[in-house]
Amino acid sequence: MKIPPLPIHSGQGDYEVTFPPTVADLVSAMLAVPRAIVVIDQNVASTYAAVLEPLLSSRPTLLVSATEEEKTPLGVTRVWEFFQRSNATKQSNVLVIGGGIIQDIGQFSAHNYYRGLRWHYAPSTLLGQADSCIGAKCGINLGAFKNQLGVFHSPAHVWICLPFLETLSDVELCSGYGEIVKLHLTRSRPEIFRELANTVNTDGWRNESLAKFIRQSLEVKRVVIQEDEYEGDIRRILNYGHTFGHALEAITQHCIPHGIAVAWGIDLINFLAWRRQLIDESHFQEVHVFLARHFAWKLPNGFTVDELIDGTRRDKKVADGKLNLVLPDRIGGLRIVPTAYDETLVSDVGNYLARYNVVYWD
Ligand SMILES: NC(=O)c1ccc[n+]([C@@H]2O[C@H](COP(=O)([O-])OP(=O)(O)OC[C@H]3O[C@@H](n4cnc5c(N)ncnc54)[C@H](O)[C@@H]3O)[C@@H](O)[C@H]2O)c1
Ligand SMILES: [Zn+2]
Repeated sequence: MKIPPLPIHSGQGDYEVTFPPTVADLVSAMLAVPRAIVVIDQNVASTYAAVLEPLLSSRPTLLVSATEEEKTPLGVTRVWEFFQRSNATKQSNVLVIGGGIIQDIGQFSAHNYYRGLRWHYAPSTLLGQADSCIGAKCGINLGAFKNQLGVFHSPAHVWICLPFLETLSDVELCSGYGEIVKLHLTRSRPEIFRELANTVNTDGWRNESLAKFIRQSLEVKRVVIQEDEYEGDIRRILNYGHTFGHALEAITQHCIPHGIAVAWGIDLINFLAWRRQLIDESHFQEVHVFLARHFAWKLPNGFTVDELIDGTRRDKKVADGKLNLVLPDRIGGLRIVPTAYDETLVSDVGNYLARYNVVYWD
């Protein structure tokens, strides 16, 4: 089935998301890009070595390891040095192939080199394909602080090649679904979430509707980013599940994949919304049952309520000592609510951890 292109409007220049049906088609499209240099996930380069060979053997290529340690100023410096070695010019086109980590590294590097090189992206993870590939936002880590340095730099083109997902692990697929769930609960109708949940309950992660779920996710995100490209206000709803999700990632030293932490963060925030009477118990339970079934995750070590709440203080969304929580007010509806660090917050989070927590430890 041919998937129609998705045009994205950006103040930095419009671009398109297209869907090459095979990796060979992707390679042909990339070979047509002039003055190209390639930044690619080393796992993807080795897994797809044969089919990528015409591209990687004919264009300057840097293999990058997809780790949070590489997504740092040091890792970015390695890419800048590669640009130098490759005699990159202002007219060069950077082709980035990999998941969200390689995207963040490649995009950040391209943004700064000669005040901005054009970059094109082929996401190879579900998270990259269904969420991070559009929106122009990227972040790299500084010390223990995740995504603290960042820029907005739109891609010139995005190619979503679904066959990449065939070699992606089930855990990484699950992580990508965390963002898909988020986007199916953002500015949407309850039926949209229910169809997703029913399909996954019946057919698992690798189901025939996955292409549709990816496209639906991008359509939701597209509307939001086109309204508020630089996260002035509305775009903050895309942080649904992220305040506590990021805190959990930080306090567990990234022992939980990003999208799984986000799914957990959605469950916790839904619980807080229920406690604040923004939604009723049935709404909380409906989403909770789905998340508990598919996103349960074992941590090597436990954590306390205080550690978790402390972890949110590094959040970029904290303003005037208050957390800007993204809370649901119906299935598919979200609002931003400034929330004090008070005893109610501590007690509600404590109740969630005691009664519903979908991450666990020995
Ligand atoms: N810029 C954004 O808008 C944005 C949004 C969300 C997340 N992120 C960032 O993205 C990162 C997470 O990215 P991710 O979840 O895409 O994963 P990833 O880039 O960390 O990759 C996960 C693993 O899958 C491997 N892999 C990638 N593609 C594969 C394939 N096709 N087959 C087999 N293995 C493959 C990688 O080598 C790696 O081991 C986090 O650092 C997060 O902060 C960025
Ligand atoms: Zn995310």
